[in-house]
Amino acid sequence: MPVVVALLNSYSGLAAAATGFVIDNVVLIVSGTLVGAAGFILTMIMCEAMNRSLANVLLGGFGGEASQGPQVEGAEEGRPVNETEAQDTAMLCSYAAQVIVVPGYGMAVAQAQHQVRELAELLDEEGVNVKFAIHPVAGRMPGHMNVLLAEANVPYDQLFEMEEVNSEFAQTDVALVIGANDVVNPAARQDESSPIYGMPILNVDESEQVIVFKRSLRPGYSGIPNELFYNDNTKMFFGDAKESVADLVSEVKAL
Ligand code: TAP
Repeated sequence: MPVVVALLNSYSGLAAAATGFVIDNVVLIVSGTLVGAAGFILTMIMCEAMNRSLANVLLGGFGGEASQGPQVEGAEEGRPVNETEAQDTAMLCSYAAQVIVVPGYGMAVAQAQHQVRELAELLDEEGVNVKFAIHPVAGRMPGHMNVLLAEANVPYDQLFEMEEVNSEFAQTDVALVIGANDVVNPAARQDESSPIYGMPILNVDESEQVIVFKRSLRPGYSGIPNELFYNDNTKMFFGDAKESVADLVSEVKAL
């Protein structure tokens, strides 16, 4: 939908420019061309970040609203996952040298950004180096995570774009994945048959420990299962992200 909105915005600019030619108005031609070009550039940036062509975005589906499914765990039969809770996660984060927070659509749904900022502040006070890794298509609109984190007063110098931070996961003790799914799915790197193969992702699986905050094992927007959840170095923190992070904040305070 955001891609379609950006494209229609681009068309409105082109229509204005065309009107400018008809009525011989230079201001309309210039402003219309600028709006048209800006809308088209934004459209192409979003498509590139999803590794999909414009035609594919406009005409194809991606797998539907998988998160709307029934309230089941979504686990693949016979495949166990590691689970964790607030106390263990608090210990893990407090003794870490570096923690990278990866927010996604689930953080927006849960409105957990204020609890996440509080957690980052607490860890920072304890001497942990805290960074936020922002994927360009995390959430449901461009800049979605930046807006939420800015609203929660997360310092701008703690936010890092994917290209800046991706090489750091290998030297990171804990990656906290807060309601993100597709943007951390290793299938994009490893599985050539996957619809998201080739999409740049945040390499959280390279961290020593990965904690994933979500309510179940159901897939995200793309509808594709995520191998990350079954990795040995991944622990699932099940529950609503706001409540889970609030519990974690309380445990960190209690340490
Ligand atoms: P998603 O892959 O959509 O995953 C979001 C996850 O959040 C879900 O798996 C869901 O799992 C979890 N969640 C939902 N509500 C939650 C809650 N209250 N507490 C905790 N977790 C919750 O998100 P993403 O990783 O940010 O990726 C974005 C996706 O959207 C990409 O596929 C991208 O291509 C697509 N997209 C992006 C845009 C832009 S421009 N950003 C535009 C259109 C499409 P549970 O149900 O198990 O909790």
